[in-house]
Amino acid sequence: MSEGRIDFHNHIIPDVDDGSKSIEESLEMARQAVDAGVSLIICSSHLNRRTWLPEYDAKVTQSMDALNKALENASIPVTVKKGYEIAIDRHLSPLQSVFHGGLNQLPVFLIELPMMGTPLYMLSEFFEFHVNKFQVVIAHPERCIDFESKKEEFQRAIEMGVLIQLDAGSITGQFGRKVKLAAEWLIKNKAAHFICSDAHSTGSRSYLVYKEAIQIVTEKYGHSVAENLTITNPSFLIKNETSKIAPVIPEDKSLLSRIIGWKSKGN
Ligand SMILES: [Fe+2]
Repeated sequence: MSEGRIDFHNHIIPDVDDGSKSIEESLEMARQAVDAGVSLIICSSHLNRRTWLPEYDAKVTQSMDALNKALENASIPVTVKKGYEIAIDRHLSPLQSVFHGGLNQLPVFLIELPMMGTPLYMLSEFFEFHVNKFQVVIAHPERCIDFESKKEEFQRAIEMGVLIQLDAGSITGQFGRKVKLAAEWLIKNKAAHFICSDAHSTGSRSYLVYKEAIQIVTEKYGHSVAENLTITNPSFLIKNETSKIAPVIPEDKSLLSRIIGWKSKGN
């Protein structure tokens, strides 16, 4: 098991998508990640039907190799491995075996839904992944505009074995109150498995937000919940031991439970 946190959703690879714009920016992002306790980064550059090309994969690999070399030269103690954030599309799963688009080269796929509306074919698409023995992780479902009306569908997806990744910015309120409440609902309803940075830069969408989100989760739901969401569960995921991944169960931090706990300790 990794000693530090594992972040498998971010855009740290320079010059490939809307994330880092230079190797210098990526190095600063990595410094911020280390300060937040991250020891392993799986990049997740955007991938969609248009960029589904071996040339794009080669560009990401080349950029990642250059970044790892620069990290070593700068003595920044974090390693970057390859992965993608894949925009949902119909019949993606047969393509996966061709492109090796999974996280850490495993049959584990981080799937992004359109922010403006969950597609009608979402569950059938996930079922196709499931029968092909691919693991789906949904990237930040709490940010979907129709999350509230699609809660049941997300729960059915989870029952099918789909895993849920929350964005740090959703926890801090960066994407608004509605998104923050959706993220809280997922945690409280045992429907959250991971928190990732989705860091794009060193600015407003950075590892500083990730660090803040971990503090919030620790204070609100307990230390073990924060550790499970950022260390234990991601560690199982990147080893393809997905059967060991469990949704987190928040600690009961209500005043009543604290009074009962205090009394039962004989105080
Ligand atoms: Fe992303």
